[in-house]
Amino acid sequence: MEKIVIEGGHSLKGMVTISGAKNAALPIIASCLLTGGWHRLSHVPRLKDIQTIKLIMSNLGVTFREEEGEVFVNSENVHEYEAPYNLVKTMRASILLLGPLLARLGKAKISLPGGCAIGARPINLHLMALAAMGVEMRLEQGYIHAQVDRLKGANIFFDITTVTGTENIMMAAVTADGQTVLQNAAKEPEVQDLADMLRSMGAQITGDGTDTIVIDGVKDLRPTPQHHVIPDRIEAGTFMIAAAMTNGEITINGCRPEHLAAVIERLQSVGAELEKVGDGLRVRGPGTIKSVDVKTMPFPGFPTDLQAQFMAMMCIASGSSVIKETIFENRFIHVSELKRMGADIKINGPHALVRGKARLSAAPVMATDLRASASLILAGLVAKEGNTEVNRIYHLDRGYEDLEKKFRSLGAGIWREKV
Ligand code: EPZ
Repeated sequence: MEKIVIEGGHSLKGMVTISGAKNAALPIIASCLLTGGWHRLSHVPRLKDIQTIKLIMSNLGVTFREEEGEVFVNSENVHEYEAPYNLVKTMRASILLLGPLLARLGKAKISLPGGCAIGARPINLHLMALAAMGVEMRLEQGYIHAQVDRLKGANIFFDITTVTGTENIMMAAVTADGQTVLQNAAKEPEVQDLADMLRSMGAQITGDGTDTIVIDGVKDLRPTPQHHVIPDRIEAGTFMIAAAMTNGEITINGCRPEHLAAVIERLQSVGAELEKVGDGLRVRGPGTIKSVDVKTMPFPGFPTDLQAQFMAMMCIASGSSVIKETIFENRFIHVSELKRMGADIKINGPHALVRGKARLSAAPVMATDLRASASLILAGLVAKEGNTEVNRIYHLDRGYEDLEKKFRSLGAGIWREKV
């Protein structure tokens, strides 16, 4: 086990380059199941979750190799179709294997992902849509047993916007018989990046990035000649918030401002100065951080994956702010840990009332999920009276590539220690 130790009080200055997006790379790697041959992927982040999906897919018969930082994937010999509980329980996104396995093999046995710290995380919408496409499913001993002779196109309405639900059905639909229309589809950049990947394989998809996606089934697909994964907007947003919180100045290279409009707007409203530079953004922190309200929404609204990080900033803002979490029912677990550092936060259902304080104080805290870990590190960067210790940082390593090294290169006092 390891922990991250942070000596607070440093203003962060310098340049950082954003890694590939975890939540784009996961469905894109899963989509390589759709056809044999060597797929060539670049800008895949080196993360625990990526290792996990590669391990599960290797057990299905998929071959991976790496050359000069690029990932090559070949599912020519895929023969197995089971994603086992012991691996799925460590990464819910394994459910993204369901659609491509059904498209390729006509069967799949996937452990039900189960809930996680931030919520029950049901997959009923994934299963509803697959049933509409002709898939027969039964739930036995915690596994979904699914099979279908031929997937058929369907008109599907998601009554809740679901990112991986949209992605799973897109992948199931690309070689189905006929047309599939997804209504109330997710518009996230990661969904669009998957659509780009599928089109590079020969799929016919239009409307990605809007709430109606149309997929016309094709007979054959070919491996992608090359696909470059988009930058991780959540990592970029984490550094943007860090610049504002530490009254620093960070140039965030390789991020896509058009993926961050809601975050840019909120940071400007707290008083940070942002400007587009080269292939990224420069963020200058304000002397005093203004308190502003924020409500998480599906893209293009403020992302739920940055809610905990934004809350850490509101803990040292000049007034009171209300943070409303509308996506997940239990995504305030970081609150009790922030309160151990002296934060003044009251929760009332989906709302958190944050009363800003002059400073936070260092303390040993415990990460409970991926984005909560980032929130606690940000709080540690501004905490005084000693060093903050963030425990259980295996959560962090699932979704951030070398985060403490990147922060150290910006002048933070931060290092990893064995527990
Ligand atoms: C994706 O999760 C992301 N994960 C999450 O990032 C992200 O927080 C979330 O989208 C929202 O943007 C990946 O892309 C791998 P949803 P996903 O289905 O697809 C309900 C991170 O930190 N719902 O869009 O699982 C669900 O309970 C992670 O990187 C159903 O009710 O989220 C939630 O309330 C955390 N039934 C809402 O929809 C379903 O069948 C949105 O969930 C599916 C979802």
